[in-house]
Amino acid sequence: MRAVDVIMKKRDGRGLSQEEIRFFIAGVTAGTLPDYQASALLMAILLRGMSADETAWLTDAMVHSGVRVDLSDIPGVKVDKHSTGGVGDKTSLILAPLAAACGVPVPMMSGRGLGHSGGTLDKLESIPGFRVDLSLQEMKAALARTGCAMIGQTSQIAPADKKLYALRDVTGTVESITLISASIMSKKIAEGIDALVLDVKTGSGAFMKTEADSRRLAESLVSIGNASGVKTEAIISAMDTPLGRAVGNALEVIESIDVLKGGGPADLIAVSVDLTARMLLLGRVAPNRADAERRVRNAITSGSGLEKFRQIIETQGGDPRVVDDYSRLPSTTGRHLVAAPRAGFVTRLDAEVVGRASVTLGAGRDTIADTIDPAVGILVKAAVGEGVQKGDPVLELHYRDRARLESALHAVADAMTIGEAPPPARALIVGEVR
Ligand code: URA
Repeated sequence: MRAVDVIMKKRDGRGLSQEEIRFFIAGVTAGTLPDYQASALLMAILLRGMSADETAWLTDAMVHSGVRVDLSDIPGVKVDKHSTGGVGDKTSLILAPLAAACGVPVPMMSGRGLGHSGGTLDKLESIPGFRVDLSLQEMKAALARTGCAMIGQTSQIAPADKKLYALRDVTGTVESITLISASIMSKKIAEGIDALVLDVKTGSGAFMKTEADSRRLAESLVSIGNASGVKTEAIISAMDTPLGRAVGNALEVIESIDVLKGGGPADLIAVSVDLTARMLLLGRVAPNRADAERRVRNAITSGSGLEKFRQIIETQGGDPRVVDDYSRLPSTTGRHLVAAPRAGFVTRLDAEVVGRASVTLGAGRDTIADTIDPAVGILVKAAVGEGVQKGDPVLELHYRDRARLESALHAVADAMTIGEAPPPARALIVGEVR
């Protein structure tokens, strides 16, 4: 088989066979297919698309480029959750301990923040000592001990994806529903889970800006998961404005702990409880939706979710005292308030703009090689729908470096709109795909 023939076939809009797709991924994994041919095929796939069968074969080939973890010695239905990324989206830190406290084993493999969207690993690493680089053996031990492990991708999981993602990043081939689906699902299928809940974000701060594109991505992800034996469902949730009030790593850990203590903002609680209830149902520890939700809320009020988070932190080498003493988390002394320019109601607080400003402060990265500052970030003081007087704080920037603050202020200048009347109520969860 010649790579150039496979490229030309896809270039001309024809379907590839399973053998051709396997040949492509085997070449990428072994390093025998040159980057220029892999890139050409990626571009052909982006422009021409793939059928459901081709996408499933691509995902399967990527899963088999590494190991498929065997978690069969851990009893129970293992359930993970994945979000397509957003601003202030810290639900993983809340739902993993809640689901584990309710009896669902949660082997969670997450990513790092990139661009304006944050990543679970960065948030967890703001807890002093917390290790996300557990080996697969350590992960299994943590899972057996606490019912939850929160780790990063190991090099054995879908190595073809790592190479392809790096190429896509620099060849303008990220935004393909086929390629995104195969990338996400190959890693999730390889981690050895039985079921998966997806949170596909939609709106200005999301990968997919329109609800129609988000639904197409959700349908693609769900069909790949179910076809490969991982029971998968998705919600489509709004990401026009930050979720919750905190954006930035340590700030988001604090807000997550607040939710586990029974506090926290209503939007964050709503999405977290919804996703956790779905995990309980997929994990077969609750007979119906009402019961699942009752168990999740009970794990908050009883403190069992908080206790589970303490155990997870301790098991992964972190300082569990952060749960009771937030001063043990990194923080900055630099604070700067951004005030409402006039009286009225906050009608828009743009997720992407706030996310970019927090990256400018140092909370995120523009390229995967950048280092981050766990302490900096942005607190939302007046969220969408809330009334403000002229001069009231809308955002509080936590900064370390004055020059970065100046750039971030420049960036947030366009983040908010203050209107005469409150905006129409918006749905937080706009759809689901099963
Ligand atoms: N996240 C991934 O893991 N892969 C993509 O292609 C996009 C988002």
